[in-house]
Amino acid sequence: MKTATAPQKTDITHKPIGQFEETRFEKIHNVIFADSNVASVRVADEIAELIKKKQAQGKTCVLGLATGSSPIRVYEELVRKHKEEGLSFHNVVTFNLDEYLPMERSNIQSYHYFMHEHLFNHVDIPEENIHIPDGTVPFEKAVAYCLSYEKKIKEYGGLDFQLLGIGRTGHIGFNEPGSHYNSGTRVITLDHITRVDAAPAFLGIDNVPRKAITMGIATVRKAKRIILIGWGQNKADIIKKTIEGEISSHVPATYLQNHNNCTFVLDTGAGSELTRNKTPWLVDACEWTEELKAKAIVWLCEETGKTVLSLTDKDYNDNGMADLLSLEDSYDLNIKMFNKLQHTITGWPGGKPNADDTNRPERATPAKKRVIIFSPHPDDDVISMGGTFDRLVEQGHEVHVAYQTSGNIAVSDTDARKYAEIAMYINSSDRAQKLIDSIAQKNESRADSPEVRKLKGNIRRGESYAATRYVGLKDENVHFLDLPFYETGTIKKNNLSEKDISIVMDIITKIKPHQIYAAGDLADPHGTHKVCLDAVLEALDRLASEPFLKDCWLWLYRGAWHEWDINEIEMAVPMSPSQVLKKRNAIFCHQSQKDGVMFQGDDAREFWMRAEERNRDTANKYKALGMASYAAMEAFVRHKFN
Ligand code: F6R
Repeated sequence: MKTATAPQKTDITHKPIGQFEETRFEKIHNVIFADSNVASVRVADEIAELIKKKQAQGKTCVLGLATGSSPIRVYEELVRKHKEEGLSFHNVVTFNLDEYLPMERSNIQSYHYFMHEHLFNHVDIPEENIHIPDGTVPFEKAVAYCLSYEKKIKEYGGLDFQLLGIGRTGHIGFNEPGSHYNSGTRVITLDHITRVDAAPAFLGIDNVPRKAITMGIATVRKAKRIILIGWGQNKADIIKKTIEGEISSHVPATYLQNHNNCTFVLDTGAGSELTRNKTPWLVDACEWTEELKAKAIVWLCEETGKTVLSLTDKDYNDNGMADLLSLEDSYDLNIKMFNKLQHTITGWPGGKPNADDTNRPERATPAKKRVIIFSPHPDDDVISMGGTFDRLVEQGHEVHVAYQTSGNIAVSDTDARKYAEIAMYINSSDRAQKLIDSIAQKNESRADSPEVRKLKGNIRRGESYAATRYVGLKDENVHFLDLPFYETGTIKKNNLSEKDISIVMDIITKIKPHQIYAAGDLADPHGTHKVCLDAVLEALDRLASEPFLKDCWLWLYRGAWHEWDINEIEMAVPMSPSQVLKKRNAIFCHQSQKDGVMFQGDDAREFWMRAEERNRDTANKYKALGMASYAAMEAFVRHKFN
């Protein structure tokens, strides 16, 4: 029987696929873990076992390696095994998949630098055993160079193991759409989406090289064992296409369907679009939990274009849900779902005073609540929950905003220089002149000096005050936590430290909130939002015995790019057209994040547009299910921590 979430499997050894009902849509063996860290350790275990087996046989172990964010934890674990368990790499020969072209080895964006930073500098692999495509090879010599790379792999007897990530284009290595099944190591032009994804690491798309050297599809295919790893919701669509779609050069990773010893190791986010997870009732008999019923009914409404209350027995029967009707009739199912959705809607996010709250998302008492809104960057509060924020203030709650990071790397040099010049104009000083010089002399892709970072952080503070004052908050209720994990001056952030957690604990202890709002990008395994959420969850865990926390509820809003699925939403706060406009104006206060944002991601729309479209979309989805029609809605899920 299938449940809504994928079961935790720990055995990643390759198994023939298509044998079981649950995988009948799938053409590549895959294993899904709830946690990408645990999954990474399992992948590292398999690599370590292979290295040791080869050692015992007196043979070299030839590894094909990938870079990018996905394998970082795998390498960390291999390094740990070397340091703590004595795993030796003396018999290991490596071939990396790819390198940008042109690219100096010493450049911090090079894959050469990446591999040394994350693995080679920390293990006992002989330098001559390391092979990474050379990004400095002159263009006219590139063909010969690529052939020699290919030849070298052959001379070592081919790859024993190939580790892969997957790009949103479906590339493996840098084999972009259009790559041939029989392609070998060669120079390739990078897809626009790949360059967009790489832009944050290069501090802007203009700095991302247009070409790369990559091993070919045939080179990869010849590996005796392949593991492709994929983490996070961002990868879910391409993972589904790769595992369930037809083999096509449009999605080069689908070529792996033909490999006889390939496993995809995924986390729940990356595996979430697979049919057996997304719509398990289409695959096999289900164990119908309340969550699964809600998910299935929302899906059924979308499929049939009907409202909840107009679904018929036939709709259920025709769409793989006949077994559900054997448990409950459609009338009951429909009514229960309608009420469930109806009860999520409230214009009183802090609870409605003096009202019966049995069927409301929030408690009526205390009528005036103390609230902390945790905002990972200094604008997520208004972007993600500006309407709710406004209501909480208007309805008289004691609202505090805690900006978790300074957001200083997302201010352009042009903006920073503008402010430094204004400072100079008001009060000409050495300090202001130094700032101007430092910015003028620097290339946008280089890291900022600490002084410039401070200025950029202050620009974001000023913008945050503009927005919180506009919403009607007193300045003393605005807190800038400047969590240290973020303060690296580069895209790569540090891990959470005790200092970060204690700063978050301090503010919670000081305010003793009845409600906490936090960005709940649970599926995003990297990224600042996830780290900020981890800091809040860890702080709450450590404060669990504090009496005030017994009376505190945690509401998660979705940050950056995704919204909650309708069936997951536990509180939906509607907005009128004028509230939508007010939210827009609050977002506009963050001027440095408008008109040419530095970290745009893969979405060309500005943040206010994304927020408006997303909130309108949620309202439209409610309407399509048969609920009242609103201009927009913000959505929250309650996370029970106590
Ligand atoms: C890297 C490589 C690429 C990445 C892919 C995913 O050597 O060949 O195919 O594996 O772009 O990148 P991340 O892991 O950063 O999402």
